[in-house]
Order: sequence, then C-alpha cells, then structure tokens
Amino acid sequence: MSSSSSSSSSSSSQSKFLDSGFVMGQKEVTRILILFLGLTASCLVLYKAAYPLQRLDLNNLTSRLASPSPPLPNLNSSDISPETPKPKISFKEILENASMKNKTVIITTLNQAWAEPNSLFDLFLESFRIGQGTQQLLKHVVVVCLDPKAFQRCSQLHTNCYHIETSETDFSGEKVYNTPDYLKMMWRRIELLTQVLEMGFNFIFTDADIMWLRDPFPRLYPDGDFQMACDRFFGNPYDSDNWVNGGFTYVRSNNRSIEFYKLWHKSRLNYPDLHDQDVFNRIKHEPFITEIGIQMRFFDTVYFGGFCQTSRDINLVCTMHANCCIGLDKKLHDLNLVLDDWRNYLSLSEPVQNTTWSVPMKCLED
Ligand SMILES: *[C@@H]1O[C@H](CO)[C@@H](O)[C@H](O)[C@H]1NC(C)=O
Ligand SMILES: *[C@@H]1O[C@H](CO)[C@@H](O)[C@H](O)[C@H]1NC(C)=O
Ligand SMILES: *[C@@H]1O[C@H](CO)[C@@H](O)[C@H](O)[C@H]1NC(C)=O
Ligand SMILES: *[C@@H]1O[C@H](CO)[C@@H](O)[C@H](O)[C@H]1NC(C)=O
Ligand SMILES: *[C@@H]1O[C@H](CO)[C@@H](O)[C@H](O)[C@H]1NC(C)=O
Ligand SMILES: *[C@@H]1O[C@H](CO)[C@@H](O)[C@H](O)[C@H]1NC(C)=O
Repeated sequence: MSSSSSSSSSSSSQSKFLDSGFVMGQKEVTRILILFLGLTASCLVLYKAAYPLQRLDLNNLTSRLASPSPPLPNLNSSDISPETPKPKISFKEILENASMKNKTVIITTLNQAWAEPNSLFDLFLESFRIGQGTQQLLKHVVVVCLDPKAFQRCSQLHTNCYHIETSETDFSGEKVYNTPDYLKMMWRRIELLTQVLEMGFNFIFTDADIMWLRDPFPRLYPDGDFQMACDRFFGNPYDSDNWVNGGFTYVRSNNRSIEFYKLWHKSRLNYPDLHDQDVFNRIKHEPFITEIGIQMRFFDTVYFGGFCQTSRDINLVCTMHANCCIGLDKKLHDLNLVLDDWRNYLSLSEPVQNTTWSVPMKCLED
C-alpha cells in the first residue's frame, strides 16, 4: 500500500499486485494480467486489484472464515491424562511455547503450494539456518497452516505449527482473487493477529517468501506500536505514504495496537470490496487513527528489502522479500539466487564494498 493520493497508490498497488499471484494457475495469471493491462487507465480498479495475499490458497477455507471468531480449541491440559492420544494443541498454547521471554513471537502463514518440498517453506527455513543470528529464532516461529497438507508438511519440519480449523464445506472450486472468499481470507488474518495481540503477544508477522538473513530484532524501532516494511522506502520512517508492504510487520501488544487492529478490521464494513491493505491506505489518515494514538513506523529497505527495492547493502540486510514478482516458479528461482548470493557473501573474507544482487532476475521479466 502506499499513499492516499491516487497516483502513488496505483504504483504501489502495482507492486502489491506483482507481489501476489503465486498461488494462481497460469490461466488465472494470464487472465488477471489481461485484466490488469486492460485497466491501467483506471487507478481505482488497479487499487482494488492489488494485494499480496492472493497467494493464499483459499480452497476449503471459506466457511471457516465465515465464522466471526476462530474456532480455537480450548483444552484444559490438566484434564488430559498422559495416556490419552495427543490432543490438538490450542493456538494460545502454541504461542506460549514459541514465545520469547518478552512475549514476542514470529508468525507466518502457509498453504499447500508453499509447503511442497523444494517450495517456499523449505527456502524460508533454510534462510533461518544460514542467516546470521537467525537459527535461534526458529523456535519462536509459529506457522499458521491454512490447509491439512500444509499442516502435515509443516509438522514434519517444524515445531510450532498451527492448523486453522475448517468446516466440512468444500470450496475446492477455483478461487479467483478479490472474490468475496478471497477477501474473507485477508480479513481472517487481521482477525487472527488481533487475537494474538489480545492474548498479550507482540509479533513479527512475516510472509514465507521472505528470506531471513540476519536477526531483524536489533533493527526494529525502539518506539512505535505498529511497524511495517515497504516495497519502496523514501527515507522517512514516520511517513505512512511510503509504499508499505504488509508482508512484514512488527506489532507491540498494547491498548493502542489492539484498538487499531479492531478498527481496521471493522473498517472492512465500510469498504466491502477492499482487502485489508487497501483499507489501511484508506483509513491511515483518518482522525480516529490519531485519536487511538497508535505510533506507526516504516522500515528502510536497506534492512528489510525485496525485489521491488533490493537492500542497497548486503552488510546490513536482514530480510529479502520476493515482492514485485508474479508466479511461484519465479519467486523460487530468484529466492534461490538470494540464498546463493548470501552463501557467497558469507564465504568472502573482506567486507563487500558495493552490493550487487543477482536478483531480481526471473522476477524482473514481469
Ligand atoms: C482445568 O481443570 C482443573 C481441574 O479440573 C480446574 O480446576 C481448572 O479450573 C480448569 N481450568 C480451566 C481454565 O478450565
Ligand atoms: C515446544 O517447543 C519445543 C522447542 O521449542 C518443542 O520441543 C516442543 O515439542 C514444543 N511443544 C509443543 C507442545 O509444541
Ligand atoms: C476440500 O476438502 C475435501 C474434503 O473435506 C476434499 O475432498 C477436497 O479434495 C478438498 N478440495 C481441495 C481443492 O483441496
Ligand atoms: C525479545 O527478546 C529477544 C531475545 O532476547 C530479543 O532478541 C528481542 O530483541 C526482544 N524483543 C524486543 C522487541 O525487544
Ligand atoms: C489498557 O487500558 C486499561 C484501561 O484503560 C488499563 O487498565 C490497562 O492496563 C491497559 N492495558 C495495557 C496493556 O496497556
Ligand atoms: C562502489 O561505488 C562507488 C560509488 O558509490 C564507486 O565510486 C566505486 O568505484 C564503486 N566500487 C566498485 C569496486 O565498484
């Protein structure tokens, strides 16, 4: 998301749009591309069309998303004898287990396509292993799985996996991006993160197509309730007109952040056709944001970079996001190059003077 002005909105929406789309089939991509090209005249339509989360596989999800609050199993562990088969662990228990001492967790979401072997989840985990100071962060990562297959694969590789409950309704039909089902999924994530805040946890939310190359915690702002990465950063950490990207956020749990998330979620009713990020852009200058008193900060891409704007210094980079990139194959190709660049960097004995990334390569072809 970007600014409230229509010109920058459309550009940033474009990067948003490019960022998404990986779950879509080739046909859908083509279709949406055609749509996209056909509508370049209309900033508003572009604006609506743009969102990074269409990557989420919405199959079989909608009905569970339709329920106002998530069905979090509330097990009283003291009721369970050691002999009983392992019950499903509640979201809260998983958060508690994953939490740092200062009640901070790292949260990502995962669907089947991203969880397949050699897909994004493998790269995501690999980045933690070869990143600087990131290995010990893995135990704090909670993976919210959106379908059973993602949960199954996650459980094989990782400790703290949570499967969002679903109803039996089958939504196996093609889920076209920006449909009502799609929007429900977007809002479901905001709802989930609101609950995390209400349970008293601070979090970093990270998309799984973000490589963690260095521990980002030292780069979080010491003040600021709500901190967000950018597709493009223009130099002012306080300016919500940076082209923000919801794929990486750091949020402190307090009254202000909880109220802000609730209002954000509620604002969807005023913009039934928009997803959370577009609604954020609509409400960010509203007086009630000032009234809540929430402090927002925006991250420099030198630390939190991506394919839209690569980090200009590999000696400083913490994360690299496969944003501005259509298609899972392209994301995979280029994120593999990011990890190659990183391994190469680690093997050097002298500091790197001028950073040159191999990326974007395939992602640039869009
Ligand atoms: C859990 O079970 C114990 C013992 O049955 C009971 O004392 C306690 O109140 C229960 N806690 C909750 C949260 O239900
Ligand atoms: C809690 O986390 C530890 C390691 O971080 C792991 O070994 C353990 O299985 C986890 N417990 C549950 C219930 O997830
Ligand atoms: C949705 O779930 C049903 C079973 O609940 C399954 O048979 C079907 O294949 C699933 N659809 C997709 C697209 O995963
Ligand atoms: C929480 O604790 C971890 C581990 O000690 C630390 O790296 C991190 O900076 C702390 N988080 C915040 C927001 O201070
Ligand atoms: C939130 O506000 C209430 C009432 O104003 C106060 O009692 C509580 O301590 C606050 N909680 C936090 C986490 O700041
Ligand atoms: C690095 O960049 C600076 C300008 O930013 C340039 O003057 C210098 O020649 C570059 N060095 C190398 C080795 O490319």
